[in-house]
Amino acid sequence: MRYIMESSDETRRLLVQERTGNAREALLLAGLKPGNRVLDAGCGPGGIAEVIAELVGPSGHVTGMDLSEERLAEARQINRRRPHVRFIQGDVRRTGLPDASFDFTWCQFVLQYVPDWQGALQELVRVTRPGGRVVISEIDGLGLHNFPFPESLREWSQRFVEVVARTTGFDIFAGRKFFTEMRRMGLGNVRVHLLPQYVIAGAADMGLMLDWETRFSTLEPVVASALGGLEAYRAMCQEYLQLLADPDALKYSVLLVTEGTRP
Ligand SMILES: C[S@@+](CC[C@H](N)C(=O)[O-])C[C@H]1O[C@@H](n2cnc3c(N)ncnc32)[C@H](O)[C@@H]1O
Repeated sequence: MRYIMESSDETRRLLVQERTGNAREALLLAGLKPGNRVLDAGCGPGGIAEVIAELVGPSGHVTGMDLSEERLAEARQINRRRPHVRFIQGDVRRTGLPDASFDFTWCQFVLQYVPDWQGALQELVRVTRPGGRVVISEIDGLGLHNFPFPESLREWSQRFVEVVARTTGFDIFAGRKFFTEMRRMGLGNVRVHLLPQYVIAGAADMGLMLDWETRFSTLEPVVASALGGLEAYRAMCQEYLQLLADPDALKYSVLLVTEGTRP
């Protein structure tokens, strides 16, 4: 499986995002406790494993899993002084881990990339012990909540999302799907929390601008031709970046954190 956001800058981008995001709040809302054995499925460069390690303390344990050796190397480096944290290469769809190994299984911003996300969710349930929590934190409508949002840019954004979904399987509306799916799979006490991913009342800071520039340039080879060619694509990306920089425009994005108990 190819991770579509791969770029030479992706490890750095993710680490910044992880260290400035609100994973700590989501983990606490979902009931992470000292002493828990935790799987961080699709852990990226290990910035969230740092937070989990601190919350579970030395009596707990964290296993980070990712497909990317580059991200795992960074994760090992930044967590090198935490003996209760380990990182292994693996695929969240077939982890190869024993049944019922974890009290708390966390997976953020990964299943949006996985076309068979139901199968992957089933695998995460399998490795969680009965009574343990499975927690999926996902975007829902990333980049579409803006005001003012000029009609031409709104339509282009909609088409952008459709082309990305069609060509890569990336699901920008992943977040809303896990409540029903966890219920269907028989998980208990399924709850959903809505958290801000970002709220930009005014001009976006450099970090967020860079984040979007990276997204647009990484996806360029995949989507530009279906969106009117390179020149048209770059012009609309510039327009979108101007909207992000507009001091009078509001931009926001939400996270849906869905958690359920393995029966
Ligand atoms: C957007 S990043 C999210 C990283 C981290 N979970 C976070 O919240 O910052 C997605 C990560 O999932 C990894 N990934 C994508 N597909 C995967 C799969 N099938 N199995 C394991 N890791 C995967 C990528 O290598 C990347 O590091």
